[in-house]
Amino acid sequence: MLATAGLPEVAERLVILGFRHGADMSIHGAFGDAADRYELDKALDDYRGLFAGGRVGSLMVERYLALLVRAGDYDEVGRILDPAFIRCHDLTDGSDGGTTVDPGGVARALLDRLDTGTYHERDQAILSSTRIDHVHRIAEPAITDLMTAVRERVDRYRAELGAHAHAAMGAGPARYRLDTWSVISHDGGHALPHKHHRGWITCVFYAAVPEVALAPGEDQGALYIGRYDFIPAEAPGWRMLRFAPVPGRLVMMPSYALHWTRPLEQPGLRIAVAIDVCAEP
Ligand SMILES: [Fe+2]
Repeated sequence: MLATAGLPEVAERLVILGFRHGADMSIHGAFGDAADRYELDKALDDYRGLFAGGRVGSLMVERYLALLVRAGDYDEVGRILDPAFIRCHDLTDGSDGGTTVDPGGVARALLDRLDTGTYHERDQAILSSTRIDHVHRIAEPAITDLMTAVRERVDRYRAELGAHAHAAMGAGPARYRLDTWSVISHDGGHALPHKHHRGWITCVFYAAVPEVALAPGEDQGALYIGRYDFIPAEAPGWRMLRFAPVPGRLVMMPSYALHWTRPLEQPGLRIAVAIDVCAEP
């Protein structure tokens, strides 16, 4: 409406503001489910039009997936849950020519600022942990290296997506910023299944974990990426992926990807940095 009223820049800023808060831009998503096949196709077409215009958010993708399941279009579900959208890098290994990161340095920089964080029995999906926001603002070489290394991997991720990628993943924002926070737990803090509402890609970097979590065959502290329980088993796409929380490891996933962690079974220091790649106007 604002765009047609001659205020396209205001309209664009409002759209970006909406996405920052996880809004669903489809009138169908906001006003209820499709009642019949005609309504279902209309709602799917509405989302497709928005995705084609780069209007994509995690809530929209979740609702679109639910509509696809109702329509029985499992192939498209599989294209949205493409395992190629999930990447894992060892940032201590510079063999790919990228910036290397010292996870110990990142851990020390964060522990030095532990008193600036806030302790949460429960913070959204995360239990028993201290959260430090705006990690990227910390002026320490290890943190600067981490942010440089993440931007390099995000740029490569985008370059390698290719034209075949589903529009729900899109080509990514032309300009982006990194929203960052750290989760530090000493006694079994873990994350319940959740997705990130505001990003295009969500990354998790591990700076420290207890030794026991790295033992062969060990599962505690592991990161899992799964799928919504309304998606039937016969639909293709990723099912359940598991990543050990190895210090220096960066896991990248679409922000709409459902993920969680297994709790630690005994006290031990676990430091993770979460990074949402968000569109900038
Ligand atoms: Fe998360």
